[in-house]
Amino acid sequence: MKLMAGNSNLPLARAIAGYLEIPLTDASVRRFADEEVFVEIHENVRGEDVFVLQSTCYPANDNLMELLICIDALRRASAKRITAVVPYFGYARQDRKPGPRTPISAKLVANLITKAGADRVLSVDLHAGQIQGFFDIPTDNLYGAPVMAADIQARFGGKELMVVSPDVGGVVRARALAKRLDNAPLAIVDKRRERAGESEVMNIIGDVSGRFCILIDDIVDSGGTLCNAAAALKEKGATDVAAYITHGVLSGGAVANINQSSLKELVISDSIQATEAAAESDSIRYLSIAPLLGEAIRRIADESSVSSLFD
Ligand code: R5P
Repeated sequence: MKLMAGNSNLPLARAIAGYLEIPLTDASVRRFADEEVFVEIHENVRGEDVFVLQSTCYPANDNLMELLICIDALRRASAKRITAVVPYFGYARQDRKPGPRTPISAKLVANLITKAGADRVLSVDLHAGQIQGFFDIPTDNLYGAPVMAADIQARFGGKELMVVSPDVGGVVRARALAKRLDNAPLAIVDKRRERAGESEVMNIIGDVSGRFCILIDDIVDSGGTLCNAAAALKEKGATDVAAYITHGVLSGGAVANINQSSLKELVISDSIQATEAAAESDSIRYLSIAPLLGEAIRRIADESSVSSLFD
């Protein structure tokens, strides 16, 4: 087995390599003067089972292109099997046509990864489970919930917990976390979005008064969804609000918004490398999913069960 990495998240790649006790494949993924991506693999990969790690986060198009070119280089170097390990699958929110004459970009990106030569895909908390079906190659979608649940039990175990979905679309994810927290009760924020990038809380479904609320979501981008939800929950009598999010996209002024919000803490996985502002924030803490990804990679290589990781 070999583990190769693009430039999007080298700390995570090194942590996974450490878990698997293998070195990262010796390769250069760099730019020509005109910013074209160039990949050169400096060791033999012929006949190898190769995992190539790259989150397609900001800058999404550059990181996606790096992934595609890494896969192409591996294919032309006769790797036996190539698994694209994409902890954060960018473009996932464009998974349907929101209006006439608009693209389904998530499907296009899935096609590009497949066409480049990937044999399998491994991702974490895809924005919608059905994105798995956009790939016509085996696709494993790991869940961050067990890692989050262990942290919640350790930090807030003695509290009157209530799991909160920040929108109707996230209820399945929230229910799965609640189940792992000894069937904690569930509340739902009825969020309406007037335009992309702006969210407005309309209503809270469930009685949150006196509860320590745990918001769970797949993505924090502008932070609007979380900050508005936290304020609304506090207004309805929640004692405190913490948020657990898999993918810290954190664009624009998101970190500043979170620092000023009523969130007690925002806990994010390292599927996307922390920006300087996020790493310095006292309100944000990172949880590593390197052991989860490392174990899934080991099981794929051994051809043993990945789903049993979540039993
Ligand atoms: C939306 O459906 C996602 O699950 C997140 O709730 C959303 O992407 C968060 O975006 P923002 O942080 O910009 O409100």
